[in-house]
Parts: sequence; C-alpha cells; structure tokens
Amino acid sequence: MAKVRNLEDLLVHELKDLYDAEQQLVEALPLLAQAVTSEDLKGALEAHLEQTRGHVERLSQVFKALGKRATRETCEAMQGLVTEAQQVLEEGMEPNVLDAAIIAAAQKVEHYEMASYGTARTFAHMLGQHEAAQLLQETLDEEEQTDKNLSKLANTLNMQAVAVENQDGRKSGSKRSR
Ligand SMILES: [Fe+2]
Ligand SMILES: [Fe+2]
Repeated sequence: MAKVRNLEDLLVHELKDLYDAEQQLVEALPLLAQAVTSEDLKGALEAHLEQTRGHVERLSQVFKALGKRATRETCEAMQGLVTEAQQVLEEGMEPNVLDAAIIAAAQKVEHYEMASYGTARTFAHMLGQHEAAQLLQETLDEEEQTDKNLSKLANTLNMQAVAVENQDGRKSGSKRSR
C-alpha cells in the first residue's frame, strides 16, 4: 500500500481497492449466475454483471476526475467473499438451498460495496471533489438497488429452501423411527 499521508491519499487508496474488487466481481459473477436454478435470480445476477462492468468504467472516470492514474490494489476482503461464494458451489447443495446460499453471498458483496462507496463518496465530498463524489453516488445507488432486488428475490426463494429442509426433516425422521 502506497503511503497514506492525508485524506486524499486515503480516498485514492479506497478507490484502488474498489477498482480491484469490481474487477474480481466481473470474473466471479458469471460463475454464480451459471450455478443458480431460479431464472429470476440468474437474470438479476447477469444484469448486475453488466452494471458491474459499468462500475469499473465509472471508477476509471473517478480517477480521471481526481487527476490520478487508475490502478488496482488487491482487495483481500473481496477475495475472501468471492472464495466463500465459490466454496458454496462445491458443496453439492439441493438447488433451492444453493440459490438461497448464493443470494446470501451476493448480498454480503453488495454490503461491502455499499460501505466502501459510501465512505469514498463522503471523502470525495469533504475534499471538494464534487464530480468524483457524484460518480461514486451513482454507483452507490445501483449497489443499493441491487441489494433491495436481492432481498425481494430472497423472500420468495428462501421459502422454497424452507420446503426442502422440511422434506429432509421428514425423511430423516422416518429413518429414526425404524
Ligand atoms: Fe459494483
Ligand atoms: Fe455490486
């Protein structure tokens, strides 16, 4: 990490972290979209993949507005979130449960992004970098909307996952009674 001496350096550090995080997501989202069963969830993940490509592009505009070069700094938090999401795919879950698990993983990602964009937007605003602040706000709005959409989908899909759990419960119950 480059030396951080002031709030502007800290903002640039946050932006490099986000620039890396968004590019990690461009690679990871197609794998998640492929793995889900619900067509609505698949559509939501694919739509957010397109938005995420836009977030990478918008961050390069933010760097430009600040007169800085757009570079990546490894975002270890996003690496961890993506690794956990990928592990979910390897656990051989029942499809409805897998969909619920992927929504959970995707919402953790959205909340991480919301926290990061909210902070970066506020720093930019405090530094009088209003164009950068405006661009960061636009992405923050999209992340918040995505999180809300995922919550709505979770309401329906988690109900289906509950039904699966009940079926398994009955099966193991009947085994025990034998
Ligand atoms: Fe994003
Ligand atoms: Fe996002």
